[in-house]
Amino acid sequence: MVAEIKSYTVLGVDAVEVTVQVDAGRGLPSVAIVGLPDSAVKESRERVRSALINSGFPFPARKVVINLAPADLKKEGTIYDLPISIGILFSQNIVSGRKLKDYLIAGELGLNGEVRRVKGALACAILAREKGYKGVILPVNNAEEASLISGIEIVPVKTLTETVAFLNGDLTIEPFKREGDFRESKFDIDMADVSGQFHAKRAVEIAAAGGHNLLFFGPPGSGKTMIARRIPTILPLMTEQEIIETTKVYSAAGLLSEGVIDKRPFRSPHHLVSDVAMVGGGSSLKPGEVSLAHNGVLFLDEFPEFKRSVIEALRQPLEDGMVTVSRISGTVSFPARFMFVAAMNPCPCGFYGFEDDVHQCSCSPVQVKRYLSKVSGPILDRIDIHVSLPAVKPDELSKMECGETSASIRERIEKAHAVQRERFKGLKISFNSHMGSTEIRKFCSLSSDAKAILEKAVSTFRLSARGYNRILKLARTIADLEGEEIIKSHHVAEAVSFREVIKIN
Ligand SMILES: Nc1ncnc2c1ncn2[C@@H]1O[C@H](COP(=O)(O)OP(=O)(O)OP(=O)(O)O)[C@@H](O)[C@H]1O
Ligand SMILES: [Mg+2]
Repeated sequence: MVAEIKSYTVLGVDAVEVTVQVDAGRGLPSVAIVGLPDSAVKESRERVRSALINSGFPFPARKVVINLAPADLKKEGTIYDLPISIGILFSQNIVSGRKLKDYLIAGELGLNGEVRRVKGALACAILAREKGYKGVILPVNNAEEASLISGIEIVPVKTLTETVAFLNGDLTIEPFKREGDFRESKFDIDMADVSGQFHAKRAVEIAAAGGHNLLFFGPPGSGKTMIARRIPTILPLMTEQEIIETTKVYSAAGLLSEGVIDKRPFRSPHHLVSDVAMVGGGSSLKPGEVSLAHNGVLFLDEFPEFKRSVIEALRQPLEDGMVTVSRISGTVSFPARFMFVAAMNPCPCGFYGFEDDVHQCSCSPVQVKRYLSKVSGPILDRIDIHVSLPAVKPDELSKMECGETSASIRERIEKAHAVQRERFKGLKISFNSHMGSTEIRKFCSLSSDAKAILEKAVSTFRLSARGYNRILKLARTIADLEGEEIIKSHHVAEAVSFREVIKIN
């Protein structure tokens, strides 16, 4: 009799159903796996044989054919060890078929029969619920992530023997339920650690409140990296939906060590990162840094050192909140909505425009120009807030005064988010930074003196139409932080202070 075990494969960050068919028929004893399996799946043969024998089960002296259907879908990894073993045992009448149709089953096997974690378990649970399965049988280490999905049974298994006993009804396994909730988000760093730099901290608050992108510009040691790393601490706690979305990405990438992602991610890839590592793709269609930063922060430190192609590739995710990658193996979309933060020095030595008695810039004008021109153009245009960050003064550092804590900044940001949720109800956008000209006209009413200041700024700084809109969006967020409906003159004035600082000519 042909055994049919339901399992899954990961495509992008989602799971697709796969049926594992096992037929043990007459012929010379052998094992063949068909259905576009990759090398990890082929090795499954050896693991399954050892695991079965070491768990005390017989291995059939027959011709075993394992088919992973649908055949045109690429299957990778070690997900099928457990379903294949169960199929082989079913064909020998050792496992009963009663429960098999109710569960999606996945798990890697160790040689002694223990069940090890697999990729994409959360996506598997989502698939099981969509398709109306009773539940999933998964490695115990995957149970917590899968338990984010309610309404189905998560059966955690530790060994092959245990799985067999469960399927035969000889053992009851309590479905996994997560304990407590993940509303507590503890960080061991805090905005209060940063002395001085009020302008930069304010910029970060506004950026977080309105979903604006941010650029820090300043000499070495001024605290750019330090402040950026603390941004996740002032962002609102993740909602359950966000936890599911982000955990799904990490789970599909095989980067989840245990549990779930309930803290906003902070990704800070090295400047030598490749295009594929940044946006995702490659032969196995893996999510890239932009997706690993989903619902968190993507920080590009030493921004001009990144390859131009990498910087350009950020345009799509910055615009759409997702990336689409196409390879021979197919086209998939990954979620990629993040707060973008970049930091850079003004020149190769780091002190151009920020000289003091001790530090003098040693770069030639050509060097400065070449350095700055690496980030010119459309990307700078997509950054709403530009902050010039001079080194913190020694007396401010020595005061060691504690700044405002992240928790108290976060309260204001949460309020501003609530205002925006109300404002954009029924629209496709969620933050002020996403507004187009139509929304700007509708939602950015200015007081008469605010209008006057804006006009003055436009003529003084020769602002382009885009620069003009950018200031309006920022002023909207600043007014929201104060709970004001009408944008006033001081909101516009503050927004103007965050205009572009890099002048390339
Ligand atoms: N405002 C500050 N308050 C307290 N400590 C600070 C401040 N600014 C800098 N520091 C200290 O200096 C160290 C270096 O700062 P940081 O790495 O953030 O500099 P940076 O601006 O990123 O420099 P670079 O341009 O070289 O990357 C920090 O780890 C911190 O200990
Ligand atoms: Mg730095």
